Amino acid sequence: MTLLELDGLTKEFGGLVATDDVTFDVEEGERVSIIGPNGAGKSTLINLVTRRLEPTAGDVRFKGESILGKKPHEVVQRGISKSFQTASIFPELTVRENAEIAALAAEHGSFRFNFLRHRDRYPAVAELTRETLESVGLHGQRDVPAEDLPYGDKRRLELGIALASEPDLLLMDEPTAGMSPDETSDTVELIEEVKEQLGLTFILVEHDMEVIFSISDRILVLNRGEIIADGTPEEVQGDAAVQEAYLGGVEL
Ligand SMILES: Nc1ncnc2c1ncn2[C@@H]1O[C@H](COP(=O)(O)OP(=O)(O)OP(=O)(O)O)[C@@H](O)[C@H]1O
Ligand SMILES: [Mg+2]
Repeated sequence: MTLLELDGLTKEFGGLVATDDVTFDVEEGERVSIIGPNGAGKSTLINLVTRRLEPTAGDVRFKGESILGKKPHEVVQRGISKSFQTASIFPELTVRENAEIAALAAEHGSFRFNFLRHRDRYPAVAELTRETLESVGLHGQRDVPAEDLPYGDKRRLELGIALASEPDLLLMDEPTAGMSPDETSDTVELIEEVKEQLGLTFILVEHDMEVIFSISDRILVLNRGEIIADGTPEEVQGDAAVQEAYLGGVEL
């Protein structure tokens, strides 16, 4: 089944064309990476899918339906979630409370839900919270305030918060940015674990080629807002246009 369709998606900032008539589909179960030089339009593309940005032209369809006109939290409720955003953590709340809020918010819309009104739903939310924390390996630390978690566990919690909304599509924009090699390999392991457990569909934006090659089965290459290659890691690696775009940049 086709999960996500980008159709002629263009975003201009003033005179600058950040994404230029981008068209591609993502099938259920696919693990897609988007790569490309700095300023290629990768984050812009992600922000168009999460509805943080309004396109200049084109359409985004999710499960066959256009999401244009939807608010960011409505998109989360439909099953698109973005992970590894530090801003998603409430530092003073416990790990468990952070995951619960994410689970509730996805169901009822951010900051609109009322805990008391949804008391009946609490067992289901508690169960989902528990499963989520187990899947990211944080169940043992559920009563720890989020701010007291070590760096690596904070990243686990960020992923947990995204997973608590039970997304059908997970977006990740440079999850290993600023990480040490050890932290990077821990994060890759975590994403791999979760991908196996949940059979997740994801779109990953990443600069680290080792990360990309180990966890994606399809790579899209963006250059100056345009897709210049789309294929398996092996296909993309041997592509002349890709090597040209990267000349003097990242070694493929
Ligand atoms: N809010 C904005 N206002 C104006 N220009 C923007 C805005 N966001 C992005 N741009 C511009 O759009 C282009 C694409 O930016 P984008 O952040 O999508 O690139 P990127 O591929 O994510 O780059 P990086 O690898 O550095 O994260 C860049 O030229 C950038 O300066
Ligand atoms: Mg970016």
